[in-house]
Amino acid sequence: MKKFIIKGPNKAVKGNVKISGAKNSCLPLMAASILFKNKVILKNVPFVKDVITMKDLLSSLGAKVVFSESKKIMTITNKKNHKLIVPYKLVSTMRAGVLTMGSLLGRYPQKKIKVALGGGCALGIRDTSWHLAGFKSLGAKNTLDKGYVNIYSKHGLAGSVYKFPKVTVTGTSNLIMASIFVKGRHIIKNISIEPEVIDLINFLNNSGANIKFLGKRSIIIKGVKELVNGKHTIIGDRIEAFSYLCVGVITNGKININNINPNNLKSEIEILKKIGCKIESNDNSIKLISSKNLKPVNIKTGPFPNFATDNMPIILAVLTKVKGKSQIEETIFSNRYMAAPELNRMGAKITVKKNKAIIIGQKKLNSADCISSDLRTTFSIILGAIAAQGSSKISRIYHGLRGYYNLELKLKKLGIKIISKN
Ligand code: EPU
Repeated sequence: MKKFIIKGPNKAVKGNVKISGAKNSCLPLMAASILFKNKVILKNVPFVKDVITMKDLLSSLGAKVVFSESKKIMTITNKKNHKLIVPYKLVSTMRAGVLTMGSLLGRYPQKKIKVALGGGCALGIRDTSWHLAGFKSLGAKNTLDKGYVNIYSKHGLAGSVYKFPKVTVTGTSNLIMASIFVKGRHIIKNISIEPEVIDLINFLNNSGANIKFLGKRSIIIKGVKELVNGKHTIIGDRIEAFSYLCVGVITNGKININNINPNNLKSEIEILKKIGCKIESNDNSIKLISSKNLKPVNIKTGPFPNFATDNMPIILAVLTKVKGKSQIEETIFSNRYMAAPELNRMGAKITVKKNKAIIIGQKKLNSADCISSDLRTTFSIILGAIAAQGSSKISRIYHGLRGYYNLELKLKKLGIKIISKN
């Protein structure tokens, strides 16, 4: 199993990073391909582990998936009808497998769909009850049998109104996909407006769907007969973008990232400015100059447009080096501070109480051997290792490879002293 060895403290980085397509956009778009009877072409695809797992999932359902990694293009063809069972093996390694529930239901509403429930995950409880309640509002019943949820609608799907109790990202994407061919119109309230959900809506509308906003978090979907001309360029990954900006921050360096819409990182940019970084942005790029006198800050995560929970472990690592007392409040997941004990082993002073963390910035971190336990924790520990004195060994980096494309190469190009070992 691969490990990273990082030697720090790294000198100030100065460089450019080209941000890859967003994993969390690519996965629902791939799931949405099930709604098409002909070809779907996706561009700017990040060939990370989760995307490969989703490719395997679609192939297991009967789709033909061809891709060119160098061109970042994926073509999905659905010539035959799909198999209607999503096996546990694929959902257990990647929770986003549940996204096929909505598209299979949308395409085959009167057939029985069997999707394995993913169970818990490192971040805390990952429930799908709001997804299922959303499907119920369309007339689809569900039963649980041996860890599989069976979903079907005897009389097809008919529009009504559904309001999510709280914002859910994949729940919103799932219900949108299920509603595309609905009889009449379906209104969905309190939806996620994360850029990745908007990317899905844009893709579907450009392919013939009829989804309109009624308010900031409400949409109306009028059922259409078919989707055609499925072509889409995936947006840049805002979490990857923020992660590399933070490499610039923690090394007191200068960094320029491109292939990213700065509007998708408004709250994060505000925080980076508050701590003392200089930031300039254009339509598709962000330039950051860090400071030697960074200031502490208070952060609260929340659904978009608030500070993203996925970016929280990243800023957590940065704040361990910022003089003074910073505070973080996590409002989305119950177990999102897994990087804290690892960073503390490097000499950071992070105290976690329930969903809040207090960080007392330290002048110096020291290298340590660390274990990564989830995707964003991997990058958080990498940042700690970049700032720490000496060589740190990071195990279980496969978590990071689920979502960061060319991670080692991109860091190396910035001058980070990183090697991987088996
Ligand atoms: N929730 C429920 N019941 C439900 C659905 C959600 O209680 O039926 C709760 C969850 O337990 C959580 C909160 O609602 O406490 C929000 O979860 P959400 O459903 O929004 O998360 P998700 O859709 O499963 C996506 C991303 C995550 C990201 C979250 C929050 C994808 C594939 N995953 O997950 O990404 O953290 O939204 O923004 O889009 C990552 O990339 O590292 C990652 C974990």
